[in-house]
Amino acid sequence: MINHPVFVAVDTQDCGRARALAQSLASDVGGIKLGLEFFLANGPAGIDDVCVDRPPLFLDLKLHDIPNTVASAVRALSALKHAPAFLTLHAQGGPEMIRAAAQARDEALPQTKLLAVTVLTSLDGEDLAAMGIHGQPLDQVLRLGEMAVSAGADGCVCSPLEVEALREALGQEAALMVPGIRPAGASKGDQKRVMTPAEAVKAGANFLVIGRPITQAPDPEAAAQAISQELGYDAR
Ligand code: C5P
Repeated sequence: MINHPVFVAVDTQDCGRARALAQSLASDVGGIKLGLEFFLANGPAGIDDVCVDRPPLFLDLKLHDIPNTVASAVRALSALKHAPAFLTLHAQGGPEMIRAAAQARDEALPQTKLLAVTVLTSLDGEDLAAMGIHGQPLDQVLRLGEMAVSAGADGCVCSPLEVEALREALGQEAALMVPGIRPAGASKGDQKRVMTPAEAVKAGANFLVIGRPITQAPDPEAAAQAISQELGYDAR
């Protein structure tokens, strides 16, 4: 069960460091996020190694391919010793791809929630126009978010700027996982549009992805505990 909204982004190729962080932060966060960098460097065996104590896992692989291939990729993850709590796929793969992924999930990974990535936050209106998509980026986010959830996704990954509109469009059942979070006073790093943890939850997020403000802090456990306190959780 996930009883805390924060997933700590463990962005490293170093399996030992990832395992040590996962273990030391286990009682101060809701779970851990591992992404493509970690997966390509360490494979499923690396995931099993980091998840030896079975923390809730957000596996951010952003799957995007033809429906049959994505469904097979989802089934392949059933070989993991510890099923992910969340797995990402690109909404731009279309409704058929999402339906195929959801069906494979139902059969092979029933505990895993599928989260759709709508428009990468690295893309702006000009980039979308160059791809033939005109109008405001937020309109495209809402269009893809609604399509993804009606095709079987359980929610979306979205930026702090999109969370309120997506919550309104998708209703209370959808899971909204939000990166770009910075505790008050923390360095923004390369994140431009940020919210504090409490602001993001107030705007409608039910899960938060927080990386460097925890992992690069002089005392990662203390940083995670301060965030828990800000959110009114006392995980210990
Ligand atoms: O260190 P930081 O808190 O910025 O890490 C946030 C995590 O969320 C990273 O793993 C990053 O790749 C991911 N992410 C993001 N912004 C998005 C989507 C994902 O920062 N729009």
